[in-house]
Amino acid sequence: MKIIIGSDHGGFELKEACRLHLEQVSGWVVSDAGVFSMDPADYPKIAHRVAQAVAGKEYERGILICGTGLGMGIVANRYKGVRAGVCHNLFTARLSRQHNDANILIMGGRVIGAGMALEMVDLFLKTPFDGGRHQMRLNQID
Ligand code: RB5
Repeated sequence: MKIIIGSDHGGFELKEACRLHLEQVSGWVVSDAGVFSMDPADYPKIAHRVAQAVAGKEYERGILICGTGLGMGIVANRYKGVRAGVCHNLFTARLSRQHNDANILIMGGRVIGAGMALEMVDLFLKTPFDGGRHQMRLNQID
């Protein structure tokens, strides 16, 4: 599975922690869409980059992190075919996959700690979609 990750400065430290964890501990190959420092950056630019890549099926899953997760979510969900879930804990990360077939996980770097976030990314990547009645609901989105 091809994965792309991105953040603004508000999510930079958590993005780095998630990327290193996914590469070094969980063994995923992850493309980094930036940012690459704590310098102030505009979250829409990174959200567009990642959402476009997922909508265009270059990547199967994306991970976006800003301060709250909210700005990234607003931008990413403008793309047809993108189902981006702003998640705060293991419950929402798991349900974003089982019920919503989310293809982008969004987190707030100023909202959750790294320990929680690392478990959430693993759960997001390994949890399958439940299908059935949830597929019927996804069909109603567009
Ligand atoms: C940046 O200060 C902050 O506004 C951004 O990271 C994000 O939380 C926006 O939704």
